[in-house]
This record gives sequence, C-alpha cells and structure tokens, in this order.
Amino acid sequence: MKLHDEATRLKRRDCYQFAEMKLRNNFLSRGKHCSFVMSALAFTIVVLWAWGENSFITTSQSVQAWYRTSYSGFMVGSTYSSVIPDTVKENTEKTYSNSSTKEETVKDDAHSEVTLTYAASTINFNRSKSNENSKYLAQTSGAAFESTLYFYFLNFSACSYGNGEWVLDDSQPLYSGFGCKRWLSATWACRLTERTDFSYERYRWVPKDCELPAFERSEFLKRMQDKTIAFIGDSLGRQQFQSLMCMATGGEESPEIKDVGKEYGLVKAKGAIRPNGWAYRFPSTNTTILYYWSTSLNELLPLNMSDPATEVAMHLDRPLAFLRNFLHLFDVLVLNTGHHWNRAKVRENRWVMYKDGIRSELDNLKEIDTAKNYTVHSIVQWLDLQLSSHPRLKVFFRTMSPRHFHNGEWNNGGSCVNTTPLSRGSKVEQNRSSDPIVESIVRGTQVRMLDITALSDLRDEAHRSHYNIKGTSGGSDCLHWCLPGIPDTWNMILLAQI
Ligand SMILES: *[C@@H]1O[C@H](CO)[C@@H](O)[C@H](O)[C@H]1NC(C)=O
Ligand SMILES: *[C@@H]1O[C@H](CO)[C@@H](O)[C@H](O)[C@H]1NC(C)=O
Ligand SMILES: *[C@@H]1O[C@H](CO)[C@@H](O)[C@H](O)[C@H]1NC(C)=O
Ligand SMILES: *[C@@H]1O[C@H](CO)[C@@H](O)[C@H](O)[C@H]1NC(C)=O
Ligand SMILES: *[C@@H]1O[C@H](CO)[C@@H](O)[C@H](O)[C@H]1NC(C)=O
Ligand SMILES: *[C@@H]1O[C@H](CO)[C@@H](O)[C@H](O)[C@H]1NC(C)=O
Ligand SMILES: *[C@@H]1O[C@H](CO)[C@@H](O)[C@H](O)[C@H]1NC(C)=O
Repeated sequence: MKLHDEATRLKRRDCYQFAEMKLRNNFLSRGKHCSFVMSALAFTIVVLWAWGENSFITTSQSVQAWYRTSYSGFMVGSTYSSVIPDTVKENTEKTYSNSSTKEETVKDDAHSEVTLTYAASTINFNRSKSNENSKYLAQTSGAAFESTLYFYFLNFSACSYGNGEWVLDDSQPLYSGFGCKRWLSATWACRLTERTDFSYERYRWVPKDCELPAFERSEFLKRMQDKTIAFIGDSLGRQQFQSLMCMATGGEESPEIKDVGKEYGLVKAKGAIRPNGWAYRFPSTNTTILYYWSTSLNELLPLNMSDPATEVAMHLDRPLAFLRNFLHLFDVLVLNTGHHWNRAKVRENRWVMYKDGIRSELDNLKEIDTAKNYTVHSIVQWLDLQLSSHPRLKVFFRTMSPRHFHNGEWNNGGSCVNTTPLSRGSKVEQNRSSDPIVESIVRGTQVRMLDITALSDLRDEAHRSHYNIKGTSGGSDCLHWCLPGIPDTWNMILLAQI
C-alpha cells in the first residue's frame, strides 16, 4: 500500500478534516480528493476490521471479568477499600509526604536511558459503535462501513506530533516563572533559583506533519466550556497540571478561580503534608482542571490498617479508586506512570504484588517491570471498555518523561550541567515512539498516546539541575523540568488533540 507516500501525506490533514466534518454533517457530501484514498483502503479495512474486533474481544476478556466480579466483590458497599487506602497511601509514601525538596527527587533505578522510536496513535475500530456521533451513522444504510472507514482512515491521518523540530521563538514562554505562584511549586520555578541562563524558555516545538496551534487562553477556556481535564500520575504529571494551570491563567493571580478539591475528596488528611491532589474551576467557563497523585495508577491497600509499618497490597489489575469513582466526570484524562517502578520505591513503600485479589507469585523486587507492564496493560484495557459508556471522554497515556543524569544517579552525584540548548540536536524524525511500553499498551485501544519522550529527550538543559533557591542546598534534579518549560509543550500537544 502506498499510504506513506508523499501525496497521501499532503492530503492527510484535509482528509482528516473531511472525515471529521463528515461525521458532524451526517454525510452531507464533501471532500472529493479523499474518495480515492478511501476506496483504495476499503478492502483492507474490512479484513482488518474483523481482525481488530476479534483481537480486541479476546485481549480484553480478563479485565472485563475482573471489572464485573470486583464490582460485586470489593467495590459495592465497601467504603473501606475505596476511601481509606488512598489516605493511608499518602502516609506510606515517605519521599512524597516529607519535605518538598525531597519530594521532587524521585528515585528511579529501574529505567535507564530510553531508546528512540515513534508511531502514530492507534484508533480502535470498535469505536465506531461506541461513539455518540457514530451511533447515528450506524442507523443509516452502509453507515457501519463508512464509520469504520472513518476510523481506519484516522489511524493513518492522525499526525505525529512527536516528530518535528525545536525552533527559537521569542514569543515564548507562555507565562512568567516569577508568577503563577498559586499553582507553580517554588522548586520548579527556576526563575526563583540561582540559575542565570534562561535560554531554555525560548523554544517552541514545531511538529513536522501537523499543526500545533498557538495557545490562546480565552480560546482554550471557551473550547473547554463545562469540561473537566484530569491528570493522574506521579510528580511529572503534577508538573503537567501546574503547567496547564499557569498557561490557562497566563500566570496571573486569578483569585476568581475556585478551589473545588472537596468535590473530588481532595482534602488534606489528618497529619498529611498536602492533599492527594487539587482541583480548580474557572467560573467564567465552568472549566475544571484537576490533578490526582498516584505513582502506580493501581489500587494500594494496606494489609493491616492499624499497623503503621504494614505491607501494602499493590493490586496490579485494579485501577485506583479515584479513577473508578470519578471517571464519569472527566472529559479529558491524562495518565502517566513509570519513575516509581523500581526496587527502592517498592521496598520503601512495602508494596507486595497482588493479582485477582490474592498475593501474586511475582517477585516484588525482581519482577517489577513485569508488574508494571501488567498494571498499565490492565488499566488501559479497563479504560478502553469504559470508553464505550463515556462517549465524551478522551483518554491519553503520556509516554515516559526522560531523565538526564550523567556520571551517577539521582542519589550519588549524577548531574546535568549542560545549559546550551539543543546540543543533542533539534529534530525528531522516527516511526516509533521512544516509549515502546506505552506505545504497545495503547495499540488497538481507544486510549491515545501522548508521545513526548523523544522531543523532551533533546532538552537536557531544561531540568531544574543543581540550581537551588538561594540559601538552600540539594543535589541535582535531572528528572523534573523547569517551569515554564517542557511540560508546556506536552500540554500544547495534548490540546491540539482534544
Ligand atoms: C523528613 O525528612 C527529614 C530528613 O530529610 C527527617 O529528619 C524528618 O524526620 C522527616 N519528616 C517526616 C515527617 O518524615
Ligand atoms: C494503526 O497504525 C499503526 C501504525 O501506523 C499500526 O501499527 C496499527 O496496527 C494500526 N491500528 C490498527 C487498528 O490497524
Ligand atoms: C458545569 O459543567 C458541568 C459538566 O462538566 C455541568 O454538569 C454543570 O451543570 C455546569 N455548571 C454550570 C453552572 O453550568
Ligand atoms: C495489625 O497491627 C497491629 C498493630 O501492629 C497488631 O497489633 C495486630 O495484631 C495486627 N493484626 C494482624 C491481623 O496482623
Ligand atoms: C505486558 O502484559 C500484557 C498483558 O498481560 C502481555 O500480553 C504482554 O506480553 C506483556 N509485555 C511484556 C513486554 O511483558
Ligand atoms: C464493541 O462493540 C460491541 C458490539 O457493538 C459492543 O457490545 C462492545 O461493548 C463494544 N466495545 C467497546 C469497547 O466499545
Ligand atoms: C520510517 O518510515 C519511512 C517511510 O515512511 C521509511 O523510509 C523509513 O525507513 C522508516 N524508518 C525506520 C527506522 O523504520
């Protein structure tokens, strides 16, 4: 098939828009130049569709089974398991609940430098039946085929925001690192540190084949009218949340924005340093942006609630309670996990692996990668099932944020001293993602990949590094990013896709 040739590529965007328009306009005729490509695809589609549907059904069975049984088993009527554990978890996570500087230095010995590759996000064929718009289509004659065609086509037309180039642009950054004090953690506001070189703030990501619209606050809010954007993940997810809050407010004080954490149970537990997350609402457009802290995305249940040194059952196949409880309120969900799946963290948190509600045979310390794969796979499969009953929801799994420790690790003198932008190059052009795990778990599902690994990997100069707030000291942080900075670009790419 000549799907990748230049002519097709030039038309992809048009066809994409056409296909979308077609859905909206319920097949009012349009888009002549797409018809050839579409009919050329037709045969393959029918074949692949059958394959896609079957393979989907087989792979999702066990999760579905879990979902059914668990809801009758441990969810229903069990406030104990769905409410308490998250609070306790806060206290069992030492590095998080302790001093803020400590918290930012996330341990990660499980993941060494990532290798580089890329691919377009995949779209599941079954979506045609689970999408509200498409339900209409399914009623019209031949529509099942048409909508299948649409989503098949999308698979090829979804452009690769991860391929492109960093270019100097003096209109950056989108907000000042001296501002946004209500949301931006002081440790990530590099403008407040001893650092004197801020050239890293001035680069804009320009995708190769697709457009990344300029960010405009009021346009963003209008688009997000009555909508909720949720980030769930580790501290890197929190950075993306803070970045979006700063982008959406322009870093201005914005006292009118309401703290609605209570609606999501995001309140500070007794003895905790901070709540497990934050939620804010922009009253002008009724837009809510929230973040929930979860390093593993699965359910953590202490085995003995009255024992402060209890082991914690990590239920590899259960999405965390917060996700199950609030999913119906979200319009956009961005998940991430990765940097906490390592021996030090497992030991420190006293995680013991559980599957199907019973102690798993997996070795807690030796089979961490397998455990992680099992969790992310289960969660994505579960979400894929949920998406059919949540037609307005869009789910993204963010790929791994790269770290740049050299000559050591986070805890033994590793550092990232380079301050020259783009000394590792400015371009990404690859067919696969640099995060093969996320790439493979979303394949064939309706969950999309937010692929930021390779483009972020070029920006080793944009970490907080060894610069501290004047008068304090600490090691190098070559994992988290300065804000404003790289996570702003992740949000730009996210917003272009919703
Ligand atoms: C926080 O960490 C410091 C050492 O960095 C320790 O002395 C202190 O007891 C810890 N506090 C809590 C609440 O764990
Ligand atoms: C979508 O495209 C990717 C690569 O572009 C491919 O690997 C994947 O199998 C396709 N998905 C489906 C459902 O055909
Ligand atoms: C705000 O949006 C939510 C949906 O996200 C809706 O349920 C609610 O009624 C809206 N509130 C107002 C005041 O419009
Ligand atoms: C739970 O922990 C408490 C306090 O350490 C202990 O007294 C109790 O025996 C434990 N319960 C079980 C079932 O192990
Ligand atoms: C990840 O888990 C899924 C589901 O359990 C499995 O099919 C796949 O082979 C695993 N991949 C790796 C690399 O272990
Ligand atoms: C896929 O389609 C079948 C048949 O319409 C439906 O029963 C099932 O719920 C769908 N699954 C998803 C995830 O959309
Ligand atoms: C990526 O795809 C292009 C064509 O689309 C091909 O020419 C190139 O060899 C591929 N590169 C890799 C590394 O697979």
